[in-house]
Amino acid sequence: MLMPRTPAMRIVSPPGRNADADALAIMRPAHGAPAVQAEITAGLLAPSAAVSPKFFYDSLGSRLFEAICELPEYYPTRTEAAIFARYGSDIANAVGTGCTLIDLGAGNCAKAAALFPLLQPQQYVPVDISRDFLADAVRGLQQRFAEIGMLALGLDFSQGCALPDSVRHAQRLFFYPGSSIGNFGPEQAQRFLRGLRDSAGEDGGLLIGVDLAKDTAVLDAAYDDALGVTAAFNLNLLHHLNHLVGADFDVRHWLHRAFFNEQASRIEMHLEARHALTVRWQGGERHFGAGERIHTEYSYKYTRAGFVALLERAGFETARIWTDPAGWFAVIHARARDGA
Ligand code: AVJ
Repeated sequence: MLMPRTPAMRIVSPPGRNADADALAIMRPAHGAPAVQAEITAGLLAPSAAVSPKFFYDSLGSRLFEAICELPEYYPTRTEAAIFARYGSDIANAVGTGCTLIDLGAGNCAKAAALFPLLQPQQYVPVDISRDFLADAVRGLQQRFAEIGMLALGLDFSQGCALPDSVRHAQRLFFYPGSSIGNFGPEQAQRFLRGLRDSAGEDGGLLIGVDLAKDTAVLDAAYDDALGVTAAFNLNLLHHLNHLVGADFDVRHWLHRAFFNEQASRIEMHLEARHALTVRWQGGERHFGAGERIHTEYSYKYTRAGFVALLERAGFETARIWTDPAGWFAVIHARARDGA
């Protein structure tokens, strides 16, 4: 049967804002959209200052994250890759071919691309907040896989993502690897997954990577590596804030802090002022005492049972779970539960 060909790759901005074809030409304003400024200002002025981890990913931040993935201490990426390599055909059998593959936080698109030969998606929809980085990746990919319709979405999906109509409705499979779900707190995660369930529809599903709770020393090392790449990744957030809101952060005045909070089962990352200082930006200023912190990331670690229960509360039924021999990481296929 001849299927209508989806037009060649397009990069689109958030729906409502320039949701049209050649949005590639549309540049992010130098100091960010008003909503971004308001969000950052509110976070910096909160009693305990906080900035969302989504702001790690300017183009240097995305590259630093790629470097993190190659660190000996950072086990999630290679552990997940080993699971996909070992169980790829099993996973493809469970998921079926011809899906609409919606890749959340696609980054360089390498994980999804490795699955293309097995999954043979009809359409590939990578979504990433780092739009220019994504655009470069998808351009190369479209050339290698001309038969797959590609639609790249440069948007922040953390508050839920309304997909444009050009995303096929049939067989939507949300692909959310890398354990980025850990950035949400458990309640937020449930709401986010519920949103995916609603957008996936009755025949939809989810293929998700989840980092599992484990020995504290292993976790601490993974987020505070000997080379200091994770420190650079965390500190680069300050460069990005300087760009986004015209702030005057001096990276040298801040320290990287990362540790596993066993009670809450999460990694916490913070930036800590080395000495008392004042930061100014468009829209505000704040004094930080010596040792005062800006919270930048949580990375929750789940038990298998805990994550399965979370999926159920979000309207999914867990179809299959694949793990590595040490039980450090899980890849889970979940189907939308009927009527949920
Ligand atoms: C991209 C959110 C999965 O939490 O492990 C890596 C980000 N932060 N090192 C993670 C991260 C510090 C990463 N995720």
